[in-house]
Amino acid sequence: MLNGKNIVVGVTGGIAAYKTATLVRLLVKAGAGVKVVMTPLAKEFITPLTMATLSGNRVLADFFDPESGDWNSHVDLGLWADLFVIAPATANTIAKMANGVADNLLLTTYLSARCPVVVAPAMDLDMLKHPATVANLERIKGYGNHIIEPSSGELASGLEGKGRMAEPEQIAKELELICQKKKEIDLTGIRMVINAGPTREPLDPVRFLSNHSSGKMGEALARAAAICGADVDLVLGPVSERPKGGPFRIRDVVTAKEMHDLCVELFEKADVAILAAAVADYTPETLSASKIKSDGDDLRLNLKPTDDIAAALGSMKRPDQIVAGFALETDNEIENARNKLKSKRLDFIVLNSLKDSGAGFGTDTNRITIIDHKDKRDMFELKPKSEVAFDILQKTVSVIRERRE
Ligand code: CTP
Repeated sequence: MLNGKNIVVGVTGGIAAYKTATLVRLLVKAGAGVKVVMTPLAKEFITPLTMATLSGNRVLADFFDPESGDWNSHVDLGLWADLFVIAPATANTIAKMANGVADNLLLTTYLSARCPVVVAPAMDLDMLKHPATVANLERIKGYGNHIIEPSSGELASGLEGKGRMAEPEQIAKELELICQKKKEIDLTGIRMVINAGPTREPLDPVRFLSNHSSGKMGEALARAAAICGADVDLVLGPVSERPKGGPFRIRDVVTAKEMHDLCVELFEKADVAILAAAVADYTPETLSASKIKSDGDDLRLNLKPTDDIAAALGSMKRPDQIVAGFALETDNEIENARNKLKSKRLDFIVLNSLKDSGAGFGTDTNRITIIDHKDKRDMFELKPKSEVAFDILQKTVSVIRERRE
């Protein structure tokens, strides 16, 4: 998988830098072209000579060559790379990445890179646990970088805990996996609209009707689709934990009507819509201008149906467009999902049952069955939503291929 890939290996100043020599060797052995870029401090931990010898390429550390005065172009390096891995990534470099600081060649290359970026943090346990580092890691995750969690064990300080850089073999494996996903699920040039989260239907100035949707499945889909090369708009209802960002556009909406109108508008220019939102089926018939007062009597609310977004996109889709939806069911799962697939004119539907523990609202995992318009069914294991997203995109790619044949 790594054969013929161009990989930039970024090394920052941490003891774990000695392990990066093995990583470079593994990548070269796998057939990748490797260029190493080091921060000034990294050179104190491992010599550029070692890295140059193992990679077979000149090591880059300065903005220009001090002898010849030649400019080391971070832009060219960023564009050359199919993958950029930063290992070890110190707390300092992670903080700079989180804030867009560009004071060395590694960071300017990071900011210029258009490829997937993989970060393998390594630091002492207390540095890793510090709220600033935790927040910075969250932030760079939000920018779409892949973080390879450090492992636990004995640290250079002599302390025991979490902070050891992942082993070179594991990092190489992770890089391979990213290449594999990109190859199998190539969404380059595909414009995608994904909706996610709940909607909020106001009753009066202070109250609304809503649901528990976390938007996590839709966010995972947006992130995975962007990794696979799609141009993604995530139309997002009011979730409790809004993604900090990523390689996709977040379009915030509140009500079912706002979500409907924006999805319809964006779908005009899109190739694929995946509708993962838990859209309210009903909205109050009237919005009270002032706070509804409690007088001790029963209160009856009159609700009217909202527009069904999936059905709207299903009926407006051109032959080259694809619309997929979700069905969250408690009973007669397959039958209900098939009915939704038909009535909303979807190309496929992703079924999850609330009977499965670990699936559905608020969880980080999901267990799905995909049913397509030919009634072909694929059942998947319980997996993290980040992996479920790739299964759904794999199906999307196969439907796109089918259409184009
Ligand atoms: N959906 C939608 N607009 C709505 C309601 C649902 O686009 N107003 C979409 C959901 O995003 C999902 C699919 O329709 O992709 C199925 O949603 P679900 O809530 O399971 O089904 P409903 O059609 O609302 O039917 P019910 O609530 O009766 O199960």
